Amino acid sequence: MWILGIDTSCDDTGVGLVKDGEVVVNLVASQVALHQAFGGVVPELASREHLKVIRPLAEKALAEAGIGPKDLSLVAATRGPGLIGALLVGYTFAKGLAWALRKPFYAIHHLEAHIAAAWPPGLNPPFLALVASGGHTHLFAVEALGRYRLLGATRDDAAGEAFDKVARLLGLGFPGGPEIERLAQEAREKVPFPVPLKDQKGYEFSFSGLKTKAVQLVEAGHPAPALARGFQEAAVEHLAQVVIRAAQDTGHRVLLVAGGVAANRALQARFQEAGLTVYFPPRGLSQDNGAMVALAAWRRYEAGFPSSPLSLGATAYWPLEEA
Ligand code: KG4
Ligand code: ZN
Repeated sequence: MWILGIDTSCDDTGVGLVKDGEVVVNLVASQVALHQAFGGVVPELASREHLKVIRPLAEKALAEAGIGPKDLSLVAATRGPGLIGALLVGYTFAKGLAWALRKPFYAIHHLEAHIAAAWPPGLNPPFLALVASGGHTHLFAVEALGRYRLLGATRDDAAGEAFDKVARLLGLGFPGGPEIERLAQEAREKVPFPVPLKDQKGYEFSFSGLKTKAVQLVEAGHPAPALARGFQEAAVEHLAQVVIRAAQDTGHRVLLVAGGVAANRALQARFQEAGLTVYFPPRGLSQDNGAMVALAAWRRYEAGFPSSPLSLGATAYWPLEEA
């Protein structure tokens, strides 16, 4: 059973192929170079680039798997949340393909796709899922596939966004996460950053204070590696403290960490020593991609969820609890 999955929610065009629940092909066309000069993603440029890339990338994915469009059993795409113009390109392409092939279409929530990327085959809910990316820092209790309870989210910046902003401050490239991680490894010392929201009762996140602190420390002339290390440690510690406390309060012992930031090795090490059973996405599946969308569709199909009507539109705003 072959599933084609497409994600064009932001600045990466992702096309993936999953066969019987296993990722076979996962192609991501990055737009990093295109947006670099502007210091952030320009939505209109992103849409136009998706439009240029989507068809050849889908053809390349099929060729790499050695199959043709007619071998597909179903087609899936990210419906939201994300940049509406960008979303529409992949979503409409996938709907058109499904219609032409007379195959079922699955509209997938971007965060469910991130969670599906970290979800090992034999694991049954309930468990906790932290999605930490450039656009989201959300902690969910996953009661079942399609049944999510939001425990807490960020009050301001997303975790990945904070890595990107601090990286920019230090004159590093985009995306900032891998750059900060690399620089932090070189550091022989660190400048300590305060861990945010230490005394809260809830499970919220906040990263804007770390960003402000970074500005002050740069102005005070601290060396970049020590700053990168201090920032990374505080950001990771903050994520860990909130999630571990949520696990203690709710009694959950299993945790999935998903989204672009889940690739961070300092974060992985910190969560692994937390006394929980923790799962991360395999390499290449933590950042935005199409295979995770196909994996979510596979889970939905296997669980007996109906396919989505082709009349259903894409949406920029869509809480996961409503997916
Ligand atoms: O999931 P993703 O590809 O896109 C969104 O849905 O936002 O996440 C991208 C984010 C970026 O902010 C990037 O800096 C961050 O994930 N990221 C990392 C690492 N690799 C990517 N953050 C920290 N450490 C990393 N190794
Ligand atoms: Zn994402």
